[in-house]
Amino acid sequence: MCGIVGYIGDKKATPILIDGLSKLEYRGYDSAGIAVFRDNDVHVEKYKGRLSVLADNVKDKDYDGTIGIGHTRWATHGAPSDENSHPHTNQSGNIAVIHNGIIENYMKIKEWLIEEKGVTFRSETDTEVIAHLIDYHYEGDLLDAVFKSIEKMEGAYAIGVVCKDEPDKIVAVRKDSPLIVGLGKGENFLASDIPAILKHTRDIFLIENDEVVLLTKEKVTIFNELRQVQAREVYKVTWDVESAEKEGYEHFMIKEIHEQPKGIHETLHRRLNKEGIIELDGIKITKEDLEGINRVYIVACGTAYHAGLVGKYAIEKFAKIPVICDIASEFRYRDPFIDENTLFIAVSQSGETLDTLAALREAKRKGARILSVVNVVGSSVARESHDVFYTWAGPEIAVASTKAYTTQQTAMYMIALHMGLTKGALSRERYDEIIAELGTMPEKVQSILDDFSAVQHLADTQFNNESVFFMGRGLDIDVANEGSLKLKEISYINSFAIAAGELKHGTIALIEDGTLVMALATQDRLYEKMLSNIKEVKARGAYVVAIAKEGNKEVEKSADTVIYIPDTMDELTPILSVIPQQLFSYYVAVARGCDVDKPRNLAKSVTVE
Ligand code: F6R
Repeated sequence: MCGIVGYIGDKKATPILIDGLSKLEYRGYDSAGIAVFRDNDVHVEKYKGRLSVLADNVKDKDYDGTIGIGHTRWATHGAPSDENSHPHTNQSGNIAVIHNGIIENYMKIKEWLIEEKGVTFRSETDTEVIAHLIDYHYEGDLLDAVFKSIEKMEGAYAIGVVCKDEPDKIVAVRKDSPLIVGLGKGENFLASDIPAILKHTRDIFLIENDEVVLLTKEKVTIFNELRQVQAREVYKVTWDVESAEKEGYEHFMIKEIHEQPKGIHETLHRRLNKEGIIELDGIKITKEDLEGINRVYIVACGTAYHAGLVGKYAIEKFAKIPVICDIASEFRYRDPFIDENTLFIAVSQSGETLDTLAALREAKRKGARILSVVNVVGSSVARESHDVFYTWAGPEIAVASTKAYTTQQTAMYMIALHMGLTKGALSRERYDEIIAELGTMPEKVQSILDDFSAVQHLADTQFNNESVFFMGRGLDIDVANEGSLKLKEISYINSFAIAAGELKHGTIALIEDGTLVMALATQDRLYEKMLSNIKEVKARGAYVVAIAKEGNKEVEKSADTVIYIPDTMDELTPILSVIPQQLFSYYVAVARGCDVDKPRNLAKSVTVE
């Protein structure tokens, strides 16, 4: 989604803003712009297209101002164009605004501004109303005008504002859209995400919902909605700039695929005590609490939802509690049955996905206990939960989620095992057995990564397919869903996943000569049944690639190609079987010449509904 950067200090703002925006490119965007001071005026430069278009256009202009704001836009209201790009200004160009999110009542405000002030709008965006609204309220005090304006604005937004008549300040607001402030010496920074400013400082203020921030070069003041000054502790960023850089890999996605053994190891081993028992540091759910819980909801979006599906399986199997796994955007409008005996688990890499956050709030309002599985420390989902399980994936930059997914799976297993043992639904012996096997996952994932050439070769020969089917049974269908999502999002191939037993109820009609079918056959219990399903599609001309456990050679008689994963217990195969699928998607996208890290139309952190 959109990215925000702001700078106030003594250095030239333009290069800092452009560099900061380049660190946010991963979020997905279609245009970029900046507003900087020069000769007592605010100058706006904004262009449709990549950040390089903006950089090329400003490089010979002498923007030596030391205060400015910058933005990468991901279109919601109005197509990508120079005019719709941010910053947006008021009529006279005195006030410039950047905005992430959506102003839901912008049409009402727009009509009112046209009637009251005869404002002429230059763009189709919701953001432009903010600039005119602030102008309407402006009487020489930008902070006051912003406070008055946000009273009228509904929706989710993070904004940054500068004003020609007050060239020593930036005013920013956060409502349901991420915003942080970086603290420097004689300079301060504004951003929607830490990587944008990590080069300059590790000292961060995490801005809370409904807070307004006034930045000068010497000071940062945070206000709540009642205009009361808020104290804030400095959050120290511990991870390195390098972990947000490519480190020699061609793309962030392949780098992050290779970081999975480490992510899984960290997520697991940081929480195992000397006796091999899981100690869930951020979770205070007792045996009594668990006995009171009669239903679990796991709610998330996209890849995180797919990790939730594995969580559902694990909790039902190990802890014997019924689980409903739901898509966040559907959950909140379904009026789901929730009470104080409900445990609600939100799964989110970014911790800022608006649908997940809204679902969490709905469940909390109805009395559920909220546990979140989150990667980004201090994110909104984490802050609004009763208990937090942080995955230790490290910063995930590629739009296509990989290492977040396998660490989320690991987290779900750990939560399920912890619940099972605490509740007495799982014997200590079985628990030890599963933990020991979970402990082998980093090295087993590594062995698949080391032996990637067969998958790469497969991708190099199959990249021209226009549709791909994924199928599986049991846990395999949950992972097939993730494999299919990965492929479609980065290579734009029309793919979908189907439960293998469901094929003959309609979908098999689509199979014809040469159709590529990825068949996951890792579940021993369902292996024979999968072999039959593979034969069914083979008989209709499909080219079948099977993913199976080492040793299960029988599949070679039916499939055209077999990719083996190391042997493991059925319950844990998802951590392994997803790896060849991630690699396949990556190499197919590369072979098709796609922009792997920044796929079209997609954003990393989806902060709109
Ligand atoms: C796909 C992908 C998305 C996210 C989804 C939820 O590769 O990254 O499907 O999984 O947008 O995002 P988070 O986990 O940040 O809530």
